[in-house]
Amino acid sequence: MLIQSALVAALGATLANAVTTLEVKGRQFVNSKTGDAFQIVGAAYQIGGSSGYDPSHGKDPLSDGDICRRDAALMQTLGVNTIRVYNLSPDLNHDECASIFNAAGMYMLIDVNSPLSGESLNSLKPWESYYAGYLNRTFAIVDNFKNYPNLLGFFSGNEVIDAVKTGAEAPPYIRAVTRDLKTYIKAHADRQIPVGYSAADVRDVLEDSWNFFQCAIDGDDNDMSRADMFALNSYSWCGESSFTESGYDQLVAMFKTTSIPVFYSEFGCNTPSPRVFTEIGTIYGTQMTGVFSGGVVYEYAQEPNNYGLATVNSDNSVDLLDDFRTLQKQYNGVDFKSVQNVKAATSSITIPECKASLIQEDGFNNNFTLPVLPPGAQKIISNGVGGLVGKIVDISDWTVNHVVKDIDGTKLSNLAVTPLSDDESNTPGSNTGGSSSSSGNTTTTGANSGSSGSAAPQLAPTKLSTAAMAVPMVIALSFAAGFSMI
Ligand SMILES: *[C@@H]1O[C@H](CO)[C@@H](O)[C@H](O)[C@H]1NC(C)=O
Ligand SMILES: *[C@@H]1O[C@H](CO)[C@@H](O)[C@H](O)[C@H]1NC(C)=O
Ligand SMILES: *[C@@H]1O[C@H](CO)[C@@H](O)[C@H](O)[C@H]1NC(C)=O
Repeated sequence: MLIQSALVAALGATLANAVTTLEVKGRQFVNSKTGDAFQIVGAAYQIGGSSGYDPSHGKDPLSDGDICRRDAALMQTLGVNTIRVYNLSPDLNHDECASIFNAAGMYMLIDVNSPLSGESLNSLKPWESYYAGYLNRTFAIVDNFKNYPNLLGFFSGNEVIDAVKTGAEAPPYIRAVTRDLKTYIKAHADRQIPVGYSAADVRDVLEDSWNFFQCAIDGDDNDMSRADMFALNSYSWCGESSFTESGYDQLVAMFKTTSIPVFYSEFGCNTPSPRVFTEIGTIYGTQMTGVFSGGVVYEYAQEPNNYGLATVNSDNSVDLLDDFRTLQKQYNGVDFKSVQNVKAATSSITIPECKASLIQEDGFNNNFTLPVLPPGAQKIISNGVGGLVGKIVDISDWTVNHVVKDIDGTKLSNLAVTPLSDDESNTPGSNTGGSSSSSGNTTTTGANSGSSGSAAPQLAPTKLSTAAMAVPMVIALSFAAGFSMI
């Protein structure tokens, strides 16, 4: 294995091919060449949380190729085939990182917003944040990422609606932003790139949010404001739970008629800790794969909120945490050959028509007359933003230059990204990465065991990301709202 990896690494530059673009067919993501259905095996990737997003100093989570190479190599061994990245600057060059993740067989789910002022919708007074400058920012993100074949899709919003109160005004604006992004993509991209919404798993508003975004206005399937995918951030499976105890059964029952792909844009409840990740067998098992298209684990890098799989130190060395090896073991226990690369379902789907009666919760918006484009936005759509447009570049070095330590403190040597051959995406168990420690060694009796408290993150984010901040609240609401439905 070592010899083979070294050889592949040496020939890397010529082997760096592209993953096949994915497209939406009915309720599934499908490989645009083979037509096979695709399940997301994802990881949220935002080192340092929102303080990792620092455009004024030329920094965001995909701006440093050296760092991406390290993390792509590790996530390859983990088994990930998709990363979700929240806060990105349209003015930074992401070519090296995007090309590395592409060669590693990983797709990208990109949020077009950021926590900075003027870079996301205000959920209580959305009209104040819906203006040409804001749309220009989202379109610039489109330009920056549209040419990467491994771009899976864009999120037009993340947890903008988290209660009936925020569901009162925000939905038509989120739908308008979806419309504007799809209009811009149609005018300026070479392919149809999926645009969707990432919802908070607040059961009062989840079904209404999904229906509000998936329905077709005037019954028009090609209605540009209709979402191409719907995702939710769900933390209801905690510890040794089950399909029914976690409420996953209710989600499957709710979404079984979906007309667009549904998946977890975040999962991974962290109490108890360390995590056992027993949800993996269910997420990729027969009870769910007919309705859900997989999920994105929250999250790759450790932050103070303790959801990380690996601690990134200030010298850019990495210490794997128990959760990394546990999750890897759970992925390795799934027979991905029977989950991935299977023919997409051909059963017909019904797209609901947008009408007030589709919305159940009293107080949730049921008005499908969308806000019109703000002044100046049409000109930007017609002319294009004129910003930075990304492209795949040749990568000459696949070797990881940073120290990575396993859970027992041993150093991983010869760690490198293994560029996959054309049309391949990464699969759990197919890449052992590094030679000193067997990736199958999930022994948790090492030095770090039970000492997660002392493995404190070295990063000191000045503020938490919107996603990170939302987590505790979502958990609280899921318990309060979600489980009362049982
Ligand atoms: C639109 O975005 C581009 C790229 O970030 C920027 O150069 C330009 O100044 C922006 N224009 C407006 C009107 O905000
Ligand atoms: C629906 O929204 C539109 C646009 O904001 C508004 O003009 C219209 O009055 C609203 N309709 C109802 C019934 O509230
Ligand atoms: C796995 O790790 C443990 C703890 O460090 C070690 O004792 C054991 O020899 C390792 N097993 C393999 C197969 O590498």
